[in-house]
Amino acid sequence: MADSSKQKEKRILTGDRPTGKLHLGHYVGSLQNRVKLQHEYDTFLIIADVQALTTNFEKPENLSQDVMQVAEDYLAVGIDPDEVTILVQSMIPELAELTVYFSMIVTVNQLRRNPTIKSEAGQYGYEEMTYGFLGYPVSQAADITFCNADLVPVGEDQVPHIEQTRKIVRKFNQLYAPVFKEPEALVGDFPRLTGLDGEHKMSKSLNNAVYLNDSAEVVHDKIMDAVTDPARIRADDPGHPEVCTVFEYHQAFNESEADEIEERCRAGTIGCVACKKRLIKALNETLEPMRERRAKYKDDPEKIEEILISGTKKARKIARETIKKVKTAMQIDYFG
Ligand code: TRP
Repeated sequence: MADSSKQKEKRILTGDRPTGKLHLGHYVGSLQNRVKLQHEYDTFLIIADVQALTTNFEKPENLSQDVMQVAEDYLAVGIDPDEVTILVQSMIPELAELTVYFSMIVTVNQLRRNPTIKSEAGQYGYEEMTYGFLGYPVSQAADITFCNADLVPVGEDQVPHIEQTRKIVRKFNQLYAPVFKEPEALVGDFPRLTGLDGEHKMSKSLNNAVYLNDSAEVVHDKIMDAVTDPARIRADDPGHPEVCTVFEYHQAFNESEADEIEERCRAGTIGCVACKKRLIKALNETLEPMRERRAKYKDDPEKIEEILISGTKKARKIARETIKKVKTAMQIDYFG
């Protein structure tokens, strides 16, 4: 497992809250990049199930299924378990332990000012936040530092959490001993993909997503129903690709034909149906290799469990060593 990690100089850690199936937005926003990065960096991928509980604590019943779903999606997109250590957050109690130690050196006001916490609390309609929700950036700092990651590939919204992590690291190192590296955010400039409604960002909760495990038929039906340029009534009306979601998908998944399609759309020489058919073909070319990888694991679901258990075991060993250093630095290493 992850043997090739030895020649890789820098370590990255990133991950997701398991909240269900991953979709094309996840693919262009992070997964595709991770598949590329796994060859250059010693990569750790955390399935942050405890963090998922910060908002889903009332319905834990889907969690075990969601953990497996995310793992399956990772493997389907081409995350290679021989290159990447995939770990499950709740299975590493040292992460919770590290979170507690870090919580001593984070102020409540720092957390309250965190713009992502603020905007998520608004989104979820929290009038009052739980301690766990307010503090999840501290737990995320533990996720990142337990393995001394150099880089954290994330979207823009996660930058405040990396800043918080850096603050914790500086404070810890200065107060106790230089145990941790200051990690850096690796912010991808991938614009967030619009959903099939043509209005909102692609998201499971808005029911406007194409999932990575959708069949060819489902992809066909969803794209055929997707909203396009509303000004185009007839196939030979001149179109406006800049407002068309289908065109956005061509740019993301059909780069080689996108220029030609843009020109023909503007000229009114390709209709929406023909344009959508070409997109469907391109999408299925992206999704087909994922379907093939997924099928292998479908025949052998225990393989996914084994990958998670062995990745978590490897990560836990590192976490234990880190906790040892932390306790020594904090002078709580009594009795040897
Ligand atoms: N907060 C991240 C998200 O919602 C998930 C996450 C948990 C994470 N721990 C992490 C991301 C550590 C990067 C590093 O997407």
